[in-house]
Amino acid sequence: MSSVQPCGVSDDERRPPTNDLLEIAQRGLALKPKRLPSWLFYDERGSALFERICEQPEYYLCRCEIALMAEHAQSVADTLGSEVRLVEYGSGNAHKTSMLLQHLQSPVAYVPVEISPEPLRQSVERLAVEFASLPLQPLCADFSKPLRLPIPPRAPRRTVLYFPGSTIGNFENREAATLLRKMRNEMGDAGGILIGVDLKKDPAVIEAAYNDRARVTAAFTLNMLTRLNREIGSNFELSGFAHRAHYNPMAGRIETYIVSRREQQVKVGRVNVPFHEDEAMQVEYSCKYSLADFAALAARAGLAVQQVWTDPEKMFSLQYLVRAGTRIH
Ligand code: AVI
Repeated sequence: MSSVQPCGVSDDERRPPTNDLLEIAQRGLALKPKRLPSWLFYDERGSALFERICEQPEYYLCRCEIALMAEHAQSVADTLGSEVRLVEYGSGNAHKTSMLLQHLQSPVAYVPVEISPEPLRQSVERLAVEFASLPLQPLCADFSKPLRLPIPPRAPRRTVLYFPGSTIGNFENREAATLLRKMRNEMGDAGGILIGVDLKKDPAVIEAAYNDRARVTAAFTLNMLTRLNREIGSNFELSGFAHRAHYNPMAGRIETYIVSRREQQVKVGRVNVPFHEDEAMQVEYSCKYSLADFAALAARAGLAVQQVWTDPEKMFSLQYLVRAGTRIH
């Protein structure tokens, strides 16, 4: 079961065919203010740049989450219990997952869910060597849509959805609650959600994480324009645009923009899109939470926080959610 299932991603909205991409770009650029969806970051180069962001000294999220898992993997595994089916949302590089799988007692299956076939294939290949006796059931799909999970090889005691990286923060509050609600349905009555959540802290620390000195995040942001030029034939001149990320303390989120450095026009299909000098196009939110904020969000989705693991400086958290009203196993 360790081979990647064939998958058709072309009918998926997050990876739409080129004409849809043109339509999505034109629609976003017609909005006031202009706005493009953040999934556009993740073509092959964008995914590689994101891996490099994780290595930057300012981007504490990945480092903190790995350290948390290294320190608490046994406690996490004990909380999840034995005979778990572990379903990972957006599996990408499954480094933290290996640490968790090493501690799980008699896991039933590991189901990585990833929209990009190649990273999915690579992570499964790696894990198949490391966990030779663990059934791997990769699913090439968009985790934000309802999933049809593969039939497990034996009945699990519970399904745990693992959603690391604080990717939940890339969804606005209402969408995040909708996604958590969908996850609640997928995990079933006895299931749980193990989720990485970035915490509110000194805004200067957060801002630095999205404005690294090596400018890898800037390259990641602007790669969206390179992608559009390649895939829909637009003519964004990269030198005419800049990356801007600032922390909005009222909303508790990093807001990332692509800013036009001058007055200019860009051809997107048959449409000429005007930009004025310093015009900001919104491309990503990265929401940060207090523990109370996140508990309230979970409650909106009918979930309760059963356990939180965090570092002494409260930089990042790993949280285990169950259905509200559910008593511990
Ligand atoms: C994937 N996601 C949680 C990252 C974040 O921190 O919002 C994406 C990212 N954008 C800029 N740097 C990292």
